[in-house]
Amino acid sequence: MLKSSIKIFLFLYKFKNMLELKKSNYMTILKTTYTYINENFYTNIAIAYSHKIEAIDSLANLQIKFPNAIIKETKANTVLYPGFINTHVHLEFSSNKTTLKYGEFIPWLDSVIKNREDLVAECDNRVMKKACNEMLASGVTTFGAISSFGVELEVCTQTPQKVIFFNELIGSNATTADMLYADFLERLDTSKNCINKGIIPAIAIHSPYSVHPIVLKRAINVAISEKLPLSAHFLESQAEREWLEKESGEFLDFFKKFFSTSRAVTNISEFIESFDEIPTHFTHAVQATKEELAYLAEKNHSIAHCPRSNRLLGCGRLPVEELITLGIPFSVATDGLSSNNSLNIFDELRASLMLHHQAPLDKFSNLLIKAITSVPAKFFNLNSGLIEIGKDADFAIVTLPDMPSSVEDIALQTILHTNEVTEVIIGGKIISS
Ligand code: BEZ
Ligand code: FE2
Repeated sequence: MLKSSIKIFLFLYKFKNMLELKKSNYMTILKTTYTYINENFYTNIAIAYSHKIEAIDSLANLQIKFPNAIIKETKANTVLYPGFINTHVHLEFSSNKTTLKYGEFIPWLDSVIKNREDLVAECDNRVMKKACNEMLASGVTTFGAISSFGVELEVCTQTPQKVIFFNELIGSNATTADMLYADFLERLDTSKNCINKGIIPAIAIHSPYSVHPIVLKRAINVAISEKLPLSAHFLESQAEREWLEKESGEFLDFFKKFFSTSRAVTNISEFIESFDEIPTHFTHAVQATKEELAYLAEKNHSIAHCPRSNRLLGCGRLPVEELITLGIPFSVATDGLSSNNSLNIFDELRASLMLHHQAPLDKFSNLLIKAITSVPAKFFNLNSGLIEIGKDADFAIVTLPDMPSSVEDIALQTILHTNEVTEVIIGGKIISS
């Protein structure tokens, strides 16, 4: 009995070793100076990966375990991060540079309406590919594309990055809402056919002022029943708040002019409560009160923080300190080139770092790195955003210009000194931008 147990044990042991040897044929062992694990920066750590992370250990131990693996040792002062996640971008306006009017929200919106056709016409696949490449060069391996027409789907299937493809629902007018909803469903279906090309189908609600509550509820029910990621622009401008609260202000003229109405289709509390059953990624929320933020926290929602977009459209500052106190998870996102001068995620992190000047520097820098890695990965249920066994092998390797004087400063120094990352790896493959 004992003999046969030993035999079985030896057989299993040999079998396991055989499997590992076989695995090591297509494995890479990567050793950088620092590795970002569990919000800390470790030295003397290497990782072994195929399309997923297989093991984390010292280089010597991994070499013993996977003798046939390719060894990749980087230069000095490199940091291995999980690939970055930009949760909110509009690719279809990527041709805008100097056309749109910045400074205040409604004049900007007027300029979007005036120039929309030209901007969208100029924005061909080449322009959108360039936008994807700009994100890639800054280490973004996953992004959330907000799509009003579906025109960016082809580029999103071709880009090496994973794309959360947010089909956007718009339409406040009851008479056209059904038609727009049908179009939205069709776009959603088309994106579902691209799952094998790196597309994660998802739903975006344009905003509280521009979506009729009846179709809003229908779209939310689709997101709940099909477990799709859900996002919505929310309380971006002072004008939006005034319109939803009092049906007055600059949006009154806007709605009279373009929609012949002086009535808002919803109010703030009705809109937020529509999302009670599904944790949602709200973009901006700059004009939300403490009470509204507390409500978002209670319902497990998250926020996309777009500091440069908010600054350029005169919308104000998101009080991140309130979010931190309330425990609301937030991402840092670029928004589109319709309200930004680049899609480089490090430009956005630097803007956030400078904007929130009262936040403790090192602590906030670490939080910013989380806001483009583990935090968005968690709320969108992505198998990435962390260097952990079993996670997808999506990485961004950053090279610091010099040796950091302390590991506590690495997040800050990364944010200050990185424009382009040294290497991007997605699903275990090196990607050149
Ligand atoms: C709407 O479709 O109702 C709408 C679209 C853009 C801005 C405002 C309203
Ligand atoms: Fe946006």
